Amino acid sequence: MEVKTSLLDNMIGVGDMVLLEPLTEDSFLENLKKRFDHNEIYTYIGSVVISLNPYRSLPIYTPDKVEEYRNRNFYELSPHIYALADEAYRSLRDQDKDQCILITGESGAGKTEASKLVMSYVAAVCGKGQEVNKVKEQLLQSNPVLEAFGNAKTVRNDNSSRFGKYMDIEFDFKGDPLGGVISNYLLEKSRVVKQPRGERNFHIFYQLLSGASDDTLKKLKLERDVSKYNYLSLDSAKVSGLDDAANFRTVRNAMQIVGFMEDEMQSVLELVAAVLKLGNIEFKPESRCNGMDESRIKDKNDLKEMCELLGTEQSVLERAFSYRTVEAKMEKVSTTLNVAQAYYARDALAKNLYSRLFSWLVTRINESIKAQAKTRHKVMGVLDIYGFEIFEDNSFEQFIINYCNEKLQQIFIELTLREEQEEYVREGIEWTNIEYFNNAVICDLIENNQNGILAMLDEECLRPGTVTDETFLDKLNTICADHQHFESRLCKNSKFLNDHSLPHNCFRIQHYAGKVLYRVEGFVDKNNDLLYRDLSQAMYKANHSLIKQLFPEGNPVKVNLKRPPTAGFQFKASVGTLMSNLQTKNPNYIRCIKPNDKKASHVFNESLVCHQARYLGLMENVRVRRAGYAFRQGYEPCLERYKMLCKNTWPHWKGPARQGVEVLMTDLQVPAEEFSYGRSKIFIRNPRTLFFLEEKRKQCLEDLATLIQKIYRGWKCRSHFLLLKKSQIVVASWYRRYAQQKKYQQVKHATTVVQSYTRGWQARKLLRELKYQKKCEEAVTTISAFWHGTQVRREYRKFFRANAGKKIYNFTIQRIMQKYFLGLKSKLPSMSPIDKTWPARPYSFLDGVHAELRRIFHLWRCKKYRSQFTEEKKAVYEEKLEASELFKDKKALYPNSVRQPFKGDYLEISKNPKYQKLSSAVDEKILLADVVNKINRANGKGSPRLFLLTKKNVVLADQKTGQLKANVPLTDLASVSTSTQTDGFFALKLKEGSASAIKGDFLLSSDHLIEIITKLHRISSMAADREKLNIDISDEFLVQFKQDKVCVKFIHGSPKNGNSVSCKRKNNRLLEVSVPASS
Ligand SMILES: Nc1ncnc2c1ncn2[C@@H]1O[C@H](COP(=O)(O)OP(=O)(O)OP(=O)(O)O)[C@@H](O)[C@H]1O
Ligand SMILES: [Mg+2]
Repeated sequence: MEVKTSLLDNMIGVGDMVLLEPLTEDSFLENLKKRFDHNEIYTYIGSVVISLNPYRSLPIYTPDKVEEYRNRNFYELSPHIYALADEAYRSLRDQDKDQCILITGESGAGKTEASKLVMSYVAAVCGKGQEVNKVKEQLLQSNPVLEAFGNAKTVRNDNSSRFGKYMDIEFDFKGDPLGGVISNYLLEKSRVVKQPRGERNFHIFYQLLSGASDDTLKKLKLERDVSKYNYLSLDSAKVSGLDDAANFRTVRNAMQIVGFMEDEMQSVLELVAAVLKLGNIEFKPESRCNGMDESRIKDKNDLKEMCELLGTEQSVLERAFSYRTVEAKMEKVSTTLNVAQAYYARDALAKNLYSRLFSWLVTRINESIKAQAKTRHKVMGVLDIYGFEIFEDNSFEQFIINYCNEKLQQIFIELTLREEQEEYVREGIEWTNIEYFNNAVICDLIENNQNGILAMLDEECLRPGTVTDETFLDKLNTICADHQHFESRLCKNSKFLNDHSLPHNCFRIQHYAGKVLYRVEGFVDKNNDLLYRDLSQAMYKANHSLIKQLFPEGNPVKVNLKRPPTAGFQFKASVGTLMSNLQTKNPNYIRCIKPNDKKASHVFNESLVCHQARYLGLMENVRVRRAGYAFRQGYEPCLERYKMLCKNTWPHWKGPARQGVEVLMTDLQVPAEEFSYGRSKIFIRNPRTLFFLEEKRKQCLEDLATLIQKIYRGWKCRSHFLLLKKSQIVVASWYRRYAQQKKYQQVKHATTVVQSYTRGWQARKLLRELKYQKKCEEAVTTISAFWHGTQVRREYRKFFRANAGKKIYNFTIQRIMQKYFLGLKSKLPSMSPIDKTWPARPYSFLDGVHAELRRIFHLWRCKKYRSQFTEEKKAVYEEKLEASELFKDKKALYPNSVRQPFKGDYLEISKNPKYQKLSSAVDEKILLADVVNKINRANGKGSPRLFLLTKKNVVLADQKTGQLKANVPLTDLASVSTSTQTDGFFALKLKEGSASAIKGDFLLSSDHLIEIITKLHRISSMAADREKLNIDISDEFLVQFKQDKVCVKFIHGSPKNGNSVSCKRKNNRLLEVSVPASS
């Protein structure tokens, strides 16, 4: 169960000043101090939150804290800014009331921080979703962008807002944010060109210089060194606790999230850089012939770079700094500017450039964050405006800022003090009036249309003739002299004549928050806020889209001779709009208080706090709260809201609303002192009573929701049930149909099966019978055939036994042979005599026949082959055959000779004229002519000889001359010897006693040994009168050389001899022929 707590639990001091007892200024401050010392920086005055700046981060803004305060009643937990934000958000979401959060306090009191806390709380508790989150993020990220361009370090605050900001956050009916609209109020633009001692220019300048990359700076033509720029104060360029570089990255990132395009960001930075460059432009006087000084630019480099950045023509801008053109009706007058005027023009341009850029940023952010949906929005406005300021030197800006704060105080008084008290009187509630200071009189001093300070200033600015700040002060001195809050040394009122704290060029206003001394210098100028037309036209001419937009009045086509409204007038108008806007909304106040002037944590300066508490009217606020009622509501809305709490008023009350409320209160037994009946409203004294009613209502709503839920669920279940029932019938009917169909199919199938079985059985039975019948018939036929066979065999047996066997045998043999021959015929091998193939024999008994047939076939095909030969070819083959018979397997040279054809005449002797004589000497037909080597018996060397063979002779002649050396008749030849080896040595052995034998045998060697010897043998065998020539083949034979017999021995040659045959004489009786082994 949820534990109910209250702000009274564990309270330090009192959380709500309304409960303070006794109520004095001292106890008030003491309570604030006590709480502050215990880190309780928030205290309530009823629904107003007082916030003390802790000047350090406290762990009270965590997500857990957000959850803690979410959907809790305002007084349920200890005071917190989240409680106020939650209350405002819930009233907006649940009661459809537009809200505004008014954050007031002096500079540095924590207004901006408070506004950010409120926004972040609302962002955390409102709806979620991709689109919603994007809107939230954009709303939140608009803050860093605006702070960078609109905040600056002042002596009071390191992050002081130098512009006023009011942001309307728009929500849909569910409480989801849709978008927002930001209004900005008068940027303190004088800061761009000059900053008081100890203060800085706007943050963005420092952030750009320290955070931008070298590349970006180069593009912007800037240097990182702050001291290089006249517009940037040097003494406080660095602020402790402020990381400009990191903040620059945050700003760029925020701009991206908000929706700035890359080129837009670049344009913005270019303008910022241009302002810095502008500050560096310096002027020098140049005398003219008319004796006047005219300003000239000292160093044009900065001007050139600035013009490059903005895309303006240098000459145009240069001229605008030297001349001023005034247009009146149809006339144009051009006057020169002196150095002071040129500086004034330069600063005016810088201020305008920057403030217009700032306004453009706000418009651009608004474009991104504006709500897309056109439906009615609920609005929560957050106002964070510059705080009340009292400087040493207060000028027009402080006057404007303080005027705005006066107005805010006024609205606070209106809504909390005066309005409230007046209402009690109006409603007839018993009431003792409480005194408070109403600052309406100060507002009137400033803004009165007839004699207000702003009206006087405008009048002075628009007046023809010489107008100076002094004439303006004179005017004030006359007109406002009698005003009790206006003080001036020279006013009619002689009261201040001797007041030395009041210089002559100043006036003093007693603001609600204290007296402020304003120096009039610059009031007229700043109010006029004029920019020379030449400058605005030069800017309009720039080739830079953003600059063009910022200076629309520079468009020469749209020259407007009317004076633009003054700054004061514009501000007054926008503050007026703001006030009327705030008055339409339900206000929620955060009153920020600064505990000390040193920005120090843990320091509580009582007098400073007391001063703020006084001018903020906090004591009066507490008194009114204590005496008054916490809550009021019209009878109708009250009855409408709580009528469900009583049976008599629920659901409809027929009578007047007041009676209904009375019945309701009586029924709820609310004590009479807790409320009062006014004329049109009921006033509830204590918030606790209201919470009691709200709690009851919440419970009742829960019950009602349960009831609605119950009825709805009942209805939903019933209709669901009916639907189910209907569906069930449909399903059942479909199912039954399906089931019946299936059953029918099954029965049908079963019937077919039974039927087929029966038919099968019958058919099989019939088949069996028919088969049996057939078998019987076959049996009868077989028996009769056998019987007939037996009869016939018995009859023919005697004939069969005598002849049949032989006949069958012959017939079978005949058949086999026939088959064999036919088969062989079809499978005969080719006609080539060297083809060795022959079909296999089919039966072994055909062995002999088969071989014989093979032999016959071979002989037959050889005969066929031979029959194709001519006579010459036949002779050649016969010679080859003879050579084979003589040498095959006897001489190793033989296989090589088989392939060589026997040519016979290798020398073509009859045709060769060299051998003509020889051929004529040999009158017979030469059968062989070749060159041989005749082996010399003395050394075994060979000398070439012509070897001729005729039918009768062997002739040896000199190879060169053809001279006959020997003519040996074949009849003298006894034998021929040759070796078994591959050499060509042969010996022609002569018959002993023959005429030729006188010289001895011939040992010759020839390449055609086989042919020579074959031919010799053939001739001798063909001659009838001669005995056959002996051919002796052996590796050792004797040769008769004259008287000596020499043995010729053939050995296998040693490898050193190589592949050639060599013959060596070993001794008188031995010639050794070595033959290569492998040849
Ligand atoms: N709730 C807080 N917690 C911690 N520090 C705070 C808180 N509120 C303010 N501060 C500190 O005080 C400084 C000044 O606060 P802030 O800028 O909100 O003042 P301001 O009222 O907006 O002043 P100005 O009127 O000059 O804009 C902040 O920069 C911050 O350091
Ligand atoms: Mg601020």
